[in-house]
Amino acid sequence: MAVSEAGIALRSISIALCVVVAAGCGPGTSPGVGVGPGGTPDPGLVAGRAVFIDRCSSCHDADGSGTADGPRLNQGRLVQVYSDLGDAAAVVAEGRDRMPAFGGLLTAGEIEAAIRYISEVL
Ligand code: HEC
Repeated sequence: MAVSEAGIALRSISIALCVVVAAGCGPGTSPGVGVGPGGTPDPGLVAGRAVFIDRCSSCHDADGSGTADGPRLNQGRLVQVYSDLGDAAAVVAEGRDRMPAFGGLLTAGEIEAAIRYISEVL
């Protein structure tokens, strides 16, 4: 194998490792989105994970298990509380008590994606 080919191979391996780490094996990371029926992760859930990490995990924790600043959302909690997840999305958009309003910061699609990630993955 030529030196340049070895370099490309090494780079591919390190990129693959980064992808695995980003998918969430370490502590304090949000769980990754599994591969769907089409052989790739659902892009809506991947987008929802990014929103959750960026905007929600500081208070609700990386795995949605809650912190002193925000309640637990994971393990079926949202579907227990909300028969219509649109109502959970409304809380996120409008805020409630110490929960900030995200309607001016995120699009309706981003909020919906975060709710899907929380209810389907966490
Ligand atoms: C600054 C901290 C903070 C951030 C950031 C935050 N939340 Fe919250 N969240 C809260 C608190 C506190 C509550 C409880 C509000 C209440 O008691 O009415 C809450 C409640 C909720 C609820 C309602 C839960 C229930 O049991 O009714 C949902 C859904 C929710 N948050 C989703 C999100 C999402 C999605 C994001 C990111 C877009 C987010 N939160 C970001 C603090 C936060």
